[in-house]
Amino acid sequence: MAQALVLLASLLIFSNVAHCDFSPKVIVDMAKILMDNYCSPEKLAGMEEAIDAGSSNTEILSISDPATLANVLTDGVKKTIFDSRVQVTYEPGFVPAAPPAMPDIPPEQLAEIIKGTVKVEVLDGNIGYLKIQHIIGEEMAQKVGPILLDYIWDKVFPTSAMILDFRSAVSGELSGIPYIVSYYTDSEPPIHIDSVYDRTSDVTIELWSMPTLLGKRYGTSKPLIILTSKNTLGIAEDVVYCLKNLKRATIVGENTAGGSIKINKIKVGDTDFYVTVPVAKSINPITGKSWEINGVAPNVEVAAEDALDAAIAIIKLRAEIPGLVQAAATLVADNYAFPSIGDDVAEKLGAVVASGEYNLISTKEELEAKLSADLLKLSGDKCLKATSNIPARPPMNLTPEMFIELIKVSFHTDVFENNIGYLRFDMFGDFEHAAKIIAEHVWNKVVDTDMLIIDLRNNVGGSTSSIAGFCSYFFDSDKQIVLDHVYNRPSNTTSDLLALTQLTGRRYGSKKSVIILTSGATAGAAEEFVFIMKRLGRAMIIGETTRGGCHPPETFRVGESDIFLSIPISHSDTAQGPSWEGAGIAPHIPVPADAALDTAKAILYKHFSGQN
Ligand SMILES: *[C@@H]1O[C@H](CO)[C@@H](O)[C@H](O)[C@H]1NC(C)=O
Repeated sequence: MAQALVLLASLLIFSNVAHCDFSPKVIVDMAKILMDNYCSPEKLAGMEEAIDAGSSNTEILSISDPATLANVLTDGVKKTIFDSRVQVTYEPGFVPAAPPAMPDIPPEQLAEIIKGTVKVEVLDGNIGYLKIQHIIGEEMAQKVGPILLDYIWDKVFPTSAMILDFRSAVSGELSGIPYIVSYYTDSEPPIHIDSVYDRTSDVTIELWSMPTLLGKRYGTSKPLIILTSKNTLGIAEDVVYCLKNLKRATIVGENTAGGSIKINKIKVGDTDFYVTVPVAKSINPITGKSWEINGVAPNVEVAAEDALDAAIAIIKLRAEIPGLVQAAATLVADNYAFPSIGDDVAEKLGAVVASGEYNLISTKEELEAKLSADLLKLSGDKCLKATSNIPARPPMNLTPEMFIELIKVSFHTDVFENNIGYLRFDMFGDFEHAAKIIAEHVWNKVVDTDMLIIDLRNNVGGSTSSIAGFCSYFFDSDKQIVLDHVYNRPSNTTSDLLALTQLTGRRYGSKKSVIILTSGATAGAAEEFVFIMKRLGRAMIIGETTRGGCHPPETFRVGESDIFLSIPISHSDTAQGPSWEGAGIAPHIPVPADAALDTAKAILYKHFSGQN
């Protein structure tokens, strides 16, 4: 109502222009044309009352140029009903195009006219290319169908993928929509394509796919790409929107124009003013919405002039997808740490591809995301996924002094009251070549304490190569200790992880209390350390259940592509039930990570005062 009032005000302001050549009645006539024909009458609610109420408006403006007036009125309408398709124009010379008198033109001649507007080609890679500017209606299709079948359809039908170029499709007949859609869908079941409400007749008609067609259907299994531009208009947009939402076509190019399923240009009385008004609207049965006004958004947005190349690239990628997924499945079966799960994932991945779930993938990124999602769903392992191949960083060129500094900042040590040691580090590395420096600058600060807190709450893992060595400091040298049995899938062997007999620096030994702090972020190699220390009864774990990561995964290239998989290839001993991978390690004393250090200190103080 409010909008309608503004609209009316903008109309009536001009209806009282004193020295104009046209009668004020013209403006009221225009408003009436809009009210009687506009496809969404609910947007105009209250207009009629507003016209009556506003008829006494006496404000005077001095626009004497009718073309300017038409522009101002168009603007006013745009601002009130937010529909830029409605236009007021002043066109003294306008002659409405008479519909061609079809019965008089022989089919051969008609076909020649149509051929002139269609371009048909078979591109490299057996890709059909069909450029359409006008979508012909039912009557025409029946008349020239057999000729067009010969000239167009038989050429592109045997291709293995098709590109429909609608970048300059700007006109067409409503009755042609079911024809085009039906060539790219199955004969059964019938598909409800669109509902069209016609304001003039106040009737909604439903468009359905056609059970029988002249010639063969292209069907649903071969890729279909539709190219669009910002000029793609009207009936063509309806076809694009329909095939997009049926998930039958991938739309590549620009957002379409946002026209109307049916738009009329209506003469205002016997003046030279015209009101262009959408008289029908489309309601898509899948989305409940329409492409009108806002246009159809492409699936892959590229400039119109680049759309053909982009489409060809998509078709090429899709042809490679089954082979790539098969190669990924084989990598998982051959390398994934848990062989029976790996076999199962590989088999099911093949079934997912066969079911068509990969058919609409358009980019390498989408393929990676889908592959990762499927690997997670089928394995339950968040470590098994597609990954980007990060090239190994060149070794840092550090002076010995810089290296010592780096070690010092990577480890935090402290000695609390009652000679309680504290050691924190946030990443495991290959500590072997740094053992001397770590012993001297880090370890010596805490090795003589009576109890030790190892803080792994921020430790995200890293290399497991130093795990055996690090564990060994907490045992004595007189016993051979098996820390873990680690299974390696590529070699299909299980090896013992043994405590070391020779260590750099002094041992903490097996007698003094050790507490390990954990959080939900504690992952990978850090979990392996916690797992061993907990299972051997060597440490009390305080904090949160750990992340449930994996042994360090390896990166594998999928076929010859630049897609890579990150695959865990080893797992810890599962002889006594599942280990930590995927599930994490539950602490002995669960407390929020923030409170873990205070809890640990309190326990050790108590322990200390108990001893004294
Ligand atoms: C792995 O080795 C075992 C014997 O240790 C054998 O039974 C099994 O078939 C092997 N698995 C694979 C995938 O080679």
